[in-house]
Amino acid sequence: MAKEEKKEEAVVEQVEAKLTDIPGIGPGTVAKLEAAGVYDLMGLAVMSPSDLAELAGVGAAVARKAIQAARGMMQLGFTDGVEFDKKRQDIHYITTGSQNLNNLLGGKGVESKSITEAYGAFGSGKTQLGLTLTVSVQLPLEAGGANGKAVFIDTEGTFRPERIRQISESLGANPDKVLKNILVARAFNSDHQMLLLDKITELIKDGEPIKLVVIDSLTAHFRAEFSGRGQLADRQQRLNRYLHQLMKLAEQHNLAVYVTNQVMANPAMMFGDPTTAIGGNIVGHASTYRMYLRRGKGGSRVAKLIDSPNLPDNETSFFLTAGGVKDEEE
Ligand code: GTP
Ligand code: MG
Repeated sequence: MAKEEKKEEAVVEQVEAKLTDIPGIGPGTVAKLEAAGVYDLMGLAVMSPSDLAELAGVGAAVARKAIQAARGMMQLGFTDGVEFDKKRQDIHYITTGSQNLNNLLGGKGVESKSITEAYGAFGSGKTQLGLTLTVSVQLPLEAGGANGKAVFIDTEGTFRPERIRQISESLGANPDKVLKNILVARAFNSDHQMLLLDKITELIKDGEPIKLVVIDSLTAHFRAEFSGRGQLADRQQRLNRYLHQLMKLAEQHNLAVYVTNQVMANPAMMFGDPTTAIGGNIVGHASTYRMYLRRGKGGSRVAKLIDSPNLPDNETSFFLTAGGVKDEEE
């Protein structure tokens, strides 16, 4: 089966058209598009004619035709179930380090071409899971990895090389090699956070085998920058655009995206746990898998799956250890 997949990938790559195949798009326009983060037909296909006209300095009619052509070549639209199933065949999973947690996510961990979100209070394990994933993505496929590199976008200064070393050692991996395969960037504000997504696309274009993108935290900058009254709609719109870009990145490059999210008290809620995730429905709808993490008994952590498209809502427990996320305490 692995061979089959390889063959199919090769075929898909061969027939993939370039931006310059579009009538009205020459090398000069391509340069402008690339500078704006549009690298391929999909990027063009999802643009609005007015955006393209402005960005590339072309007329409205040319822009409309170019987008139509891109959409035609992409064959955007409906696919039947068999085709859909084929598209999902190259999906891979990255182990969380805990079989319990993997099971919660469908059996094998965090899925490629998807966004997995963890929200919860401070100390619930969101960052530790992210750090663990940056190590396990480097494992070979048979060990639950993706044989790839990780990108860690750090908005809060939580990336800890010494934790990576400990987690690597617990998995029997060489800590220096592991650290080399994690590309860390500090995002200073939400614009910067957005810009870094284009950088990831560039890295992949340059041949970096990036199979995981961690964003810790997804929402903190957006929350801080749009905290005033009347700014909520603005914030949600920008967050939505960001999540859209993220999903596109995940789908186009078959990589897994893991994002963390804070909680806030919801005073309107009278029963149950009165905490809700920042970003509300926008983030909820964009995340393919959404987990709520909290402290459990005996130092454990509890993960609850919320609104998954193909898995029942469910709960499980795991531990945070020196060696990262595990089923058992050390
Ligand atoms: P915020 O970012 O503050 O919202 O929290 P978070 O959910 O990201 O928390 P994080 O993942 O950083 O979890 C912190 C917890 O992980 C600590 O309270 C410890 O319980 C645990 N932890 C961190 N490092 C180690 C370690 O080296 N050994 C062990 N046993 N536990 C650790
Ligand atoms: Mg954290």
